[in-house]
Amino acid sequence: MADECDLCLLGLIILSSLLTDTSGVNVTHVFISSGENVRRPCNNDLSDCTSTTWTYFRRSAAVELITEGIKKKDTERHESLSLGSDCSLNIKNVTEEDYGFYTCRQYENGGKQLTDACVSLHVLHVSPSSSSSSSSSSQTEISPGRSVTLSCQLYSVFCDYWVDSDGLHLLWVNQTGVDLTTDSKYQILFSLDHCNITLTTTLLNDDDNREWRCQLTHRNQLQTSVRYTVNGFNNTGSSQQLKL
Ligand SMILES: *[C@@H]1O[C@H](CO)[C@@H](O)[C@H](O)[C@H]1NC(C)=O
Ligand SMILES: *[C@@H]1O[C@H](CO)[C@@H](O)[C@H](O)[C@H]1NC(C)=O
Ligand SMILES: *[C@@H]1O[C@H](CO)[C@@H](O)[C@H](O)[C@H]1NC(C)=O
Ligand SMILES: *[C@@H]1O[C@H](CO)[C@@H](O)[C@H](O)[C@H]1NC(C)=O
Repeated sequence: MADECDLCLLGLIILSSLLTDTSGVNVTHVFISSGENVRRPCNNDLSDCTSTTWTYFRRSAAVELITEGIKKKDTERHESLSLGSDCSLNIKNVTEEDYGFYTCRQYENGGKQLTDACVSLHVLHVSPSSSSSSSSSSQTEISPGRSVTLSCQLYSVFCDYWVDSDGLHLLWVNQTGVDLTTDSKYQILFSLDHCNITLTTTLLNDDDNREWRCQLTHRNQLQTSVRYTVNGFNNTGSSQQLKL
């Protein structure tokens, strides 16, 4: 009975709500960093959740996560998902793989379909990558003199559209919030195609405990950020870690 056309309809709705603000459906955009928890309400005020279905969409796939109030046990992320008593969807420890659209559909007792809730989840994730000059040793191994590269990626449907046209902005800043592109110690590269911004620097002795943050802003408002701290230069010899 579930109509196959939900998917194409949803695609159209999303596109039109991106390009204009006139479609009847409200897509809520949520920006979050990997590792955080997210809770999304279903919006309707019902006494129970037996008519609640949460569906996840990405690319051409649609997966029911919660069907009529019952969590599916065979979905990839089922262990991290739960249904709140108010029918909200909770995702624990969000990963970069969780980006995409989530819709909640509910019916009244009489069977009347209520307004769907539609959420687009955008996930910010930072990962260290080994620099070309280093050997094949662990990519998180750090010490003064070594070059480190941190890649900050926004996982998002239509990410390039957002960044290009809708005032979404990725930035590396230091502890006091200063844009690191202004500091010649850092090479900052931004790629619109990949929606990522990488920071590369050669570590100095006084970089121990230094913190860098990758920030995501939307129309000049901070949405989320990920911090990286350089840790443990003093323990000589063994490999050290860059800590989140
Ligand atoms: C979308 O949100 C606006 C503002 O919150 C609300 O006035 C409008 O009724 C909503 N539209 C739908 C279809 O839910
Ligand atoms: C969260 O997920 C990451 C990556 O999947 C994992 O390494 C980490 O241990 C998880 N954290 C918690 C608190 O479960
Ligand atoms: C941040 O960068 C600015 C400009 O380079 C510098 O003056 C300031 O001391 C830095 N703050 C920290 C905590 O490193
Ligand atoms: C962005 O991501 C792509 C693909 O993972 C990678 O090749 C590239 O080096 C990254 N960094 C920049 C600045 O584009």
